Amino acid sequence: MRARIAVLASGAGSNLQALLDHLDTLGDGRGGDVVLVASNRPGAGALERARVRGIATSVLESDAALDAALRRHEIGLVVLAGYLRLVPNDVTRHFRGRIVNVHPSLLPAFGGPGMYGARVHRAVIDAGVRVSGATIHFVDEQYDRGPIVAQWPVPVKDDDTPDTLARRVLAVEHVLLPHAVQAVATGRVVLGDDGRVRIYGLRDAPQTFVLAAGAESRPDDAIASMLGR
Ligand code: GRF
Repeated sequence: MRARIAVLASGAGSNLQALLDHLDTLGDGRGGDVVLVASNRPGAGALERARVRGIATSVLESDAALDAALRRHEIGLVVLAGYLRLVPNDVTRHFRGRIVNVHPSLLPAFGGPGMYGARVHRAVIDAGVRVSGATIHFVDEQYDRGPIVAQWPVPVKDDDTPDTLARRVLAVEHVLLPHAVQAVATGRVVLGDDGRVRIYGLRDAPQTFVLAAGAESRPDDAIASMLGR
């Protein structure tokens, strides 16, 4: 039974596009289908990407509108892909273990209220850290603090600007998020009652991240081995 997936996005929707493309490549092996794209911004590029594909869209005027849209479309899995409104607690509780978010840093570092977009990468550069990255996590009531599903490191270069770093992290998000959504949708990644994330049925060789300084993270195969295709 394939999951009916809703993607909530406020921006361009490049992560939505990466997810749609990955599910297409999986064909009959895909764990779900995106059946709803919702946004708090009528002009969000993500909505246009959905319309092009004939996917239902919804512009969310309120928290009640979000709840109603998820019920109306019988959603089983929610993906936050650059969604800039707080998800109400009754929704995160109802979707516990079935709602994930992508964040452009290695949480819990550089996360929390107000930490989104270029602000994240500006803070990373100002902190002088050598490694940033992308995080996929289950969403709970604490902003950007839910149990982590997957992370992937991205080197910070001496001459990075927030824009150059954002582009490098976004390229990793476009691989990490789709693999993580497929893994959650197929039950390979599960949020236990104890709040711990478990990964089943995959090679359990510890993932060693060999990160040559300045290397471009090309994680496709390694992430596939960590989370499955
Ligand atoms: C991504 O950088 C993501 O990390 C953050 O919002 C951005 C969404 O970009 N949460 P897009 O709309 O998917 O292109």
